[in-house]
Amino acid sequence: MDLLLLEKILLSLFFSILLAIFISKLRGKRFKLPPGPLPVPVFGNWLQVGDDLNHRNLTDLAKKFGDIFLLRMGQRNLVVVSSPELAKEVLHTQGVEFGSRTRNVVFDIFTGKGQDMVFTVYGEHWRKMRRIMTVPFFTNKVVQQYRYGWEDEIGKVVEDVKRNPEASTSGIVLRKRLQLMMYNNMYRIMFDRRFESEDDPLFVQLKMLNGERSRLAQSFEYNYGDFIPILRPLLRGYLKICKEVKDTRLKLFKDYFLEERKKLASTKRSDNNALKCAIDHILDAQQKGEINEDNVLYIVENINVAAIETTLWSIEWGIAELVNHPEIQRKLRDELDTVLGPGNPITEPDTHKLPYLQAVIKETLRLRMAIPLLVPHMNLNDAKLGGYDIPAESKILVNAWWLANNPAHWKNPEEFRPERFLEEESKVEANGNDFRYLPFGVGRRSCPGIILALPILGITLGRLVQNFELLPPPGQSKLDTSEKGGQFSLHILKHSTIVAKPRVF
Ligand code: HEM
Repeated sequence: MDLLLLEKILLSLFFSILLAIFISKLRGKRFKLPPGPLPVPVFGNWLQVGDDLNHRNLTDLAKKFGDIFLLRMGQRNLVVVSSPELAKEVLHTQGVEFGSRTRNVVFDIFTGKGQDMVFTVYGEHWRKMRRIMTVPFFTNKVVQQYRYGWEDEIGKVVEDVKRNPEASTSGIVLRKRLQLMMYNNMYRIMFDRRFESEDDPLFVQLKMLNGERSRLAQSFEYNYGDFIPILRPLLRGYLKICKEVKDTRLKLFKDYFLEERKKLASTKRSDNNALKCAIDHILDAQQKGEINEDNVLYIVENINVAAIETTLWSIEWGIAELVNHPEIQRKLRDELDTVLGPGNPITEPDTHKLPYLQAVIKETLRLRMAIPLLVPHMNLNDAKLGGYDIPAESKILVNAWWLANNPAHWKNPEEFRPERFLEEESKVEANGNDFRYLPFGVGRRSCPGIILALPILGITLGRLVQNFELLPPPGQSKLDTSEKGGQFSLHILKHSTIVAKPRVF
């Protein structure tokens, strides 16, 4: 260790201790902070609670400290909210105060310090980005324009699976083919492009880079350097890898997609009737000077992460639950056969006529929430919440998974039972009309992609159940549904092998 580094560490240590003393003074005097474990200087509560702040560990802490509690993670304040009333306060009543986002050292790299939309603070830039993205991505017109593409993509999945002899015998990792489908669903909207096969080199590279981006950002591995600035020099190697992945990824978006589209647009200038894809609208906004090229690239980055993975994880969870609950799978198939007629492929308009399918989707999103803590919120200024003072720039996590899985509010929440959404919870929708159930959040920073995600989930799960009997692989009675949580994500730990036996009509 060189002397300069040692000096830096000692100086930071000194300032961190000063800060800890300052915080403890705040706690004791002017500020009435939410309850929580007693922090120690420099480390705060980090040594007590550890790195893995997943929804289940935060639920255990809520049982101990209450519906609002504060963790001092080194220099960061983390406030966790676990009741529908407080969720309403954060997301709705005080939606402006708590409408910003925190980032950390890694998200700073991947979002160019908030030049994107998902991770930027609440303000002019966010408003502009959300407005610019709405017409090309988040309207019913987009659904009506692209639903044929999505129906075509799941049709191709069904054909490929039927052609694969392994699918009906030893089983296949169905997720791999569905991943290609999800990329195609979104790349058709974004760039009017699709990838022909899982071996397409561009798809392989894209998948690898997006996977790395996700793994690096969601890992708990770098917490220590984010929480405790004196340890940050030790993160140098990690952050260097993040930067390389980010640069390569944005360059790939630029060279292979943006530039291609620009070229195509310049040769087709006269053909005004050609349907615009999303990126054409975004490039128009750039040409008008509303956003710059970096913003365009970060929009592509956001869609790659926010849209593709979340929807794919939810599809994967839905399939796993249907395999592990054959009686529910059968009931869903009966509904599809009865309402649509056996062998008539489900389309987007049909999804509205299938209440049991809707209930299966809602139940999947309840029990297996892809973003169980929502995307972290933040208050830019000092604020009040639940009678407590919340220091400016606190990270606010809404434990949406616990809101939807708390036995105080739900009947046997640990059970996968779609019927609940047709019986005692029949009025609850995924759009946030009930603060116990927020798989897409609610309010200003809620997920605008819900309008695309729900029909894609319906068409995909519907077609699979119509065409196949989905089973665990030979010798296994159930699929392993262990979870893998991240900074705020939740997906299945092991991508399951699934037997897909074609139905004969
Ligand atoms: C099943 C699939 C999906 C789930 C479960 C999901 C869930 C979420 C959640 C929980 C949030 C954060 C809400 C908050 O912080 O209050 C969010 C934000 C967001 N989602 Fe989704 N999402 C899904 C699909 C999509 C799709 C398909 C798109 C785009 C096409 C999308 C785009 C976004 C964007 C842009 C934001 C950030 C909004 C903002 O900060 O203003 N999501 N999503």
